[in-house]
Amino acid sequence: MVFWLYALVLSTKEHLNEKGFAMNKATDTTNGGLKVVPSQNLLGADIYGVNLKLPLSSEDKQFIEKAWADNLVLRFRGQENVTPQELTQFSNALGDLDKRPVRGTVNGGYNDLPLEINVISNIIGDDGKPIGGLGSYEADWHTDMSYVDIPPKGCVLYSVEIPPTGGNTSFVNMYEAYNRLSDKTKQKIANLKCIHDASKNSTGELRQGFTEVTDPRNAVGASHPLVRIHPVTQQKCLFLGRRKNAYIVGLPLNESEELLDELWAASTDPELKWTQVWQLGDAILWDNRCTMHQRDSFDASSRRLMYRTQIRGELVMG
Ligand code: SIN
Repeated sequence: MVFWLYALVLSTKEHLNEKGFAMNKATDTTNGGLKVVPSQNLLGADIYGVNLKLPLSSEDKQFIEKAWADNLVLRFRGQENVTPQELTQFSNALGDLDKRPVRGTVNGGYNDLPLEINVISNIIGDDGKPIGGLGSYEADWHTDMSYVDIPPKGCVLYSVEIPPTGGNTSFVNMYEAYNRLSDKTKQKIANLKCIHDASKNSTGELRQGFTEVTDPRNAVGASHPLVRIHPVTQQKCLFLGRRKNAYIVGLPLNESEELLDELWAASTDPELKWTQVWQLGDAILWDNRCTMHQRDSFDASSRRLMYRTQIRGELVMG
């Protein structure tokens, strides 16, 4: 009897953070036709009952926003044949969308895509040029576009073609990364800012118009607080961007490197991770403010085609 009572308490318990905000609940949650099933990890959940091809009701939108804040990454499985316009419409229900940068202009037969769609692909078009970004290489841990003053608050990534193996996308929970730091480290980083280098993409390619950074103190890119207050949950999370050429403003270079190594080791601990193993028709929605992500490499001779939208964010508040 005592065992069953204990099991019931455990199965209905929400993981509340210090402000009482529900984080990655241990229970399934339903709302009319919608249902959220959290992963067993510290982030990530499947959400059922949403059709990305249809406009969202305001009730469903609220439900998704709550599930998103609780679970950081949501997966919508079985979303077949969603058009770029429908993906844009769905993403737009969650906020204004950023347009792809001019240098992100797509090649091949993909030029007619809405300007809000970024193509992530290794496919080479008829014109001999890649139709999208990131190729088939591993993409290191990063936050999308953290090198600009207002990075996107979230992203939707939809699988159009996937390779038979590889190319999976992992996420880490940056609230938890912060919470696990020692009090001494929390105090040390409380008011520090970091430069987020814009020169390289997450696969290590130098972006057009940039020169190789030889000293991170001279890196070009936005400066953001290392500790960010999430505007929805009001919780603190680490905000790191990417490791390469990062620099903590005001510290001697060796101290900046040492502290960044400590923060990165804490943030990329496998315990904080959830991996999206792609199936065709999966769409995922992640919070770009309180997660980082990484993409595995895959066989260059297979095809991977993803459409990504980015939901406009806000200034990073520390
Ligand atoms: C990205 O880094 O935004 C894309 C991740 C992926 O291709 O899975």
